[in-house]
Amino acid sequence: MTRISVKVDGTAYEDEVEPRLLLVHYLRDRLGLTGTPVGCDTTNCGACMVDLDGKSVKSCSVLAVQADGGEVTTIQGLASADGEWHPLQRAFHEQHALQCGFCTPGMIMAARDLLRENPDPTPEEVREGLEGNLCRCTGYMNIVRAVLAAAAEERRHQAPEPGAVAEHAEPSTAGSGAPV
Ligand code: FES
Ligand code: FES
Repeated sequence: MTRISVKVDGTAYEDEVEPRLLLVHYLRDRLGLTGTPVGCDTTNCGACMVDLDGKSVKSCSVLAVQADGGEVTTIQGLASADGEWHPLQRAFHEQHALQCGFCTPGMIMAARDLLRENPDPTPEEVREGLEGNLCRCTGYMNIVRAVLAAAAEERRHQAPEPGAVAEHAEPSTAGSGAPV
């Protein structure tokens, strides 16, 4: 057994695990975080995607010991403490992109990673960003729409309020002859 300490969805855990234990099984079976599913167990489908230290990873291809000292965020850690959904969760709901419980968590985690790297993607870039996530049942139209909608909402939130810059700006001395 190997001792690990890992933070998952904001909670710190100290555990003894077998070195061969996969991260996805640690999350589901030890911590009870069943929001992260096992879709294929062969690293093909992306259903098991979580964030490990700022990058999305397929948790069926990572050992729990590899998360030692790290920080994991699962789909269950995306909503804020007061229960407000992440913009991607809201957009998946509003754009009817929520599909089954297998593919959706991974789609959202992969999209979150994609938007961190590219906050203003084209539909094509969204498709490329999600190419490691499979849904066996449908096209991806609403999923792409949802990711674009979430991106737009996040950009709106990050944009300064109109007038905010002027309000907080130091008075300009340019051309006034005043000492700097
Ligand atoms: S269960 Fe991990 S990629 Fe399918
Ligand atoms: S695999 Fe989830 S809806 Fe198709």
